[in-house]
Amino acid sequence: MFSARTSWELLPETTTADLALDLSSSNPTAVGLSPPASALRALAVEEAARYEPAPEGLRDARLAVSDYYRARGAAVDPDDVVLTASTSEAYSFLFHLLADPGDELLVPSPSYPLFSLLADLACVRIVKYPVVFAGGWCVDAGALARAVTPRTRAIVVVSPNNPTGSYLKLGERDALGATGLPLISDEVFLDYARGVDPTRAPTLASRADGLTFTLSGLSKVAALPQVKLGWIALSGPAELVSVARARLHVIADTFLSVGGPVQHAARALLAEAAAVQPAIRARVAANLAALGHALAGAPASVLPVEGGWSAIVRLPATRTADEWARALLQEGVLVQSGELFELPVPACVVVSLLTPEATLVAGAARLRALLDRA
Ligand SMILES: Cc1ncc(COP(=O)(O)O)c(C=O)c1O
Repeated sequence: MFSARTSWELLPETTTADLALDLSSSNPTAVGLSPPASALRALAVEEAARYEPAPEGLRDARLAVSDYYRARGAAVDPDDVVLTASTSEAYSFLFHLLADPGDELLVPSPSYPLFSLLADLACVRIVKYPVVFAGGWCVDAGALARAVTPRTRAIVVVSPNNPTGSYLKLGERDALGATGLPLISDEVFLDYARGVDPTRAPTLASRADGLTFTLSGLSKVAALPQVKLGWIALSGPAELVSVARARLHVIADTFLSVGGPVQHAARALLAEAAAVQPAIRARVAANLAALGHALAGAPASVLPVEGGWSAIVRLPATRTADEWARALLQEGVLVQSGELFELPVPACVVVSLLTPEATLVAGAARLRALLDRA
């Protein structure tokens, strides 16, 4: 009765309500890091009472996205912006645009675990290319080249990556570009860099060398996952961009999924980023310092964090990542196992750096006590 592509092994949803210390939440609205509720008044404008179906999104909202990129040094024509309800929906549109059933998309590993579900739904195959850790994270260019087959339709890049926090480097960008394949660049955490590194590739939103789709959205940029606004910025050779735009128009027109109010409010909500991002960066920095302090002298370390909202904590290889996550759960501390993200480094757990500082300090102290007893 049901489709094969939805025959997932469904596990019961776990609840974290009774946990004393949740170090896993990356929902900014649950950890006091969203814009104030008053910011949402921008959704209640009179224009929102009118239904104005616009497959790519209302022009003013696309202009606001174009201005977001201008402020980051990239020229993006508002006509090359397609709005979506989320970055996840943007992926879905692009998988449908680029790949037929059975075609392949290259995605980084480790990375965001949603790719396999999005690919299942689009009946495409994901092929993972390794991002390896050698003091810092880098794309294994040789493995990537070997992963390309005649059925490969695009390469997905996540910069900075989740949960490694690593940015795509200039040399890596050029190596990916040399394949001639379209690039899908997920830059939802772009604004959350730690420090400056001239070897990091800037946003690919104005990349002209090949067909490029740059994804982001209010979910991370303005810490507003609940308002549901994402986007795709198209760039590359004009004739390819024009075909992609025409086809995305039809895909977007089929769903018309982006709400009118959020489009009218897009400029005002994007402006909230200026206030919320410094607060997030301060929380991330304080939590990283607290983690380092708690683990000083212990047989554990925090892997370098270039950006994003997560830290990877490397623990002794006496237990697997899952076993460490379970042992911490018994101490009342919830973290994510590195195995969820297929981290290539053993015995790692992932901690959300959005965690309220007092919770993180208390959770890190319990981790330290566990390590001291082990
Ligand atoms: C790397 C990455 N891309 C995309 C998303 C999804 O973003 P959205 O809420 O816009 O669908 C997430 C969510 O955590 C993410 O970590």
